[in-house]
Amino acid sequence: MAGMGEFLQRLEKAELHLHLEGSVEPETMAELDPSVSPEECLARYQYSSFAAFLKSYEWVTRRLRAPEDYALITRRLLERLARQNVRYAEICLSAGIILWRKQDPAAVHEAVRAAALGSTVEVRWIWDAVRQFPLEDARRVAAMAAERIREGVVAFGIGGDEARGPAPLFRDLFASARRAGLRLTAHAGETTGPASIREALDIGAERIGHGIAAAEDPALLEHLRDNQIPLEICLSSNLATGAVQRIEDHPVRRLFEAGVPIVLNTDDPAMFRTSLTREFEIAQNVFGFTDAELAGIAANAFRYSFRGEPDGHTAS
Ligand code: ADE
Ligand code: ZN
Repeated sequence: MAGMGEFLQRLEKAELHLHLEGSVEPETMAELDPSVSPEECLARYQYSSFAAFLKSYEWVTRRLRAPEDYALITRRLLERLARQNVRYAEICLSAGIILWRKQDPAAVHEAVRAAALGSTVEVRWIWDAVRQFPLEDARRVAAMAAERIREGVVAFGIGGDEARGPAPLFRDLFASARRAGLRLTAHAGETTGPASIREALDIGAERIGHGIAAAEDPALLEHLRDNQIPLEICLSSNLATGAVQRIEDHPVRRLFEAGVPIVLNTDDPAMFRTSLTREFEIAQNVFGFTDAELAGIAANAFRYSFRGEPDGHTAS
């Protein structure tokens, strides 16, 4: 019989919630910016709050200066994913931050797409806008993403600070992105309550990033279950940013028992010092998920990917 760790390592896995910029390991950071030691980088990867985490995320992006830097971190990320038997990844590119830094998302996309060719991991891209930045920036992100649907971009998402950029602001934008053929996802219910998840669903989000606040709202849990809307659960992330105070407080088991589809993800693997295999180990060790349950959760990541058309739609 395969050992416990071996089962999870061998399991064919997929990642649906994974930020490229959050995957920069301290050693790679020291290569990108020799004035930063791996130790200093590690210190930056500790957070006193969610706001402090967002500051560190921005600190990382400031050190990604050229498309080649993005290509390097893509190669490194895919090597690590391949070693964990991750077969498929939807990687989120913070195109909103790239625009804000007056860089060219088109050039970055060309570089990361080329870097992903030849990997054993099948890659699709999600272009993310920042909720608290000007709406016009988000509009540009969605428009540029839509132009790249044939080049591996499958979805448009909103991340950042849900408290400062409420979902209703993005209603028209989500509708036009969907019409253009992009799938939709939103970070919601990570640091604020269930109303934020309801708002994200109301504007058309098909998956919810985090969504842990749903556990406070039985009617919302039923809605997620009945409509098979998956939550992209990121255990280590929620602990590191203070979204949950103790890992045992995380509602993942309650969400699962309520019949809500869940997938496990790393969010920002380097910044939270984790890996996808490690997230599965935490689910097993802390929350008592069985091998069979974990195999089902791993399968969910393929099932709820944005590779195909949504249920009920046929490709034209
Ligand atoms: N960007 C990267 N990681 C994020 C998170 N956990 N929440 C919101 N925005 C993010
Ligand atoms: Zn995220």
